[in-house]
Amino acid sequence: MRALVTGAAGFIGSHLSERLVAEGADVIGLDCFTDYYPRPIKEANLAALRANRRFALVESRIQDADLAALLDGVTHVFHLAAQAGVRKSWGTDFRHYTENNIEATQALLEASVTARLERLVYASSSSVYGDDTPIPMREDHLPHPVSPYGVTKLAAEQLCHLYHANYAVPAVALRFFTVYGPRQRPDMGFYRFLKAALAGQPIHLYGDGSQSRDFTFVADAVSAMVAAGARGTPGRVYNIGGGSRVSVNDVLALVGRLVAKPLDIQREAEQKGDMRDTYADTSLARGDLGYRPTVTLEQGLDAEFRWLSATLATS
Ligand code: UGA
Repeated sequence: MRALVTGAAGFIGSHLSERLVAEGADVIGLDCFTDYYPRPIKEANLAALRANRRFALVESRIQDADLAALLDGVTHVFHLAAQAGVRKSWGTDFRHYTENNIEATQALLEASVTARLERLVYASSSSVYGDDTPIPMREDHLPHPVSPYGVTKLAAEQLCHLYHANYAVPAVALRFFTVYGPRQRPDMGFYRFLKAALAGQPIHLYGDGSQSRDFTFVADAVSAMVAAGARGTPGRVYNIGGGSRVSVNDVLALVGRLVAKPLDIQREAEQKGDMRDTYADTSLARGDLGYRPTVTLEQGLDAEFRWLSATLATS
């Protein structure tokens, strides 16, 4: 395998790149280091990869890169580069979402038309569903996003479908359900809860904490990407969830046990763009990809806690 991983310096992209080189692939990482969160965090994500001869990093936006040259000889594209974050996607920030999620994906798909790819795996999101979908969510339910971010992730997913239908680009989309674990982005819930709890600072809880998520450990998300690259059905969309649905209040109870201190929880208003509940029906991924989540929330949260404690101790 010779893979192009977009967003290789990010949370999931760095873990995926490490898995691919460990399995013997050559990996080109493409990342433009957007300033959504600090570059040193992304450099730390890349530290082991930079020392690996099988890995090469190209620093560029997708739209500005010489994609024909980058895709020459590439067998697999894993497209993770995106402007993430559901709650920040309103207002003037929306242009970052259209540029990095829709326009970048279209540029990559267009360049893939003449490339000789075995698979292009696109990292989509549970946020395409919105709040009208029955639970557990199935891929054939009508998506109706409640955040501008979700709209852009769905638009890019639809572009994958179009380029598959019209140009036979072998695109497979995975709808990830709230991925967590070591290297989680600093704007995400678990990172913010654990960091505040470790420092004895207030935890900002949006709403009453009864909202629920099908949290997915990053190694399971990576396994799903690898499996989709090997045997995903082109043109298909797959849900990738962690296998259990818990409320944010349940998560905070686990955080309290991990830090062994009382938490200072400050209630704030529900955030526009947040879904109420998510829960993946993963039957399709189980059947086609052999996908099985293997890490429980307790194990995964403990891994993120140990990583964050070590990271904060050295920073
Ligand atoms: C996450 C990612 O940030 C998105 O990029 C991804 O596309 C999405 O998952 C997905 O599954 O599609 P989200 O579910 O909002 O989005 O993940 P978290 O930031 O970890 O939030 C989880 C829950 O904790 C939400 O209900 C949120 O409102 C709550 N939260 C988060 C708080 O109460 N306080 C905080 O400080 C942060």
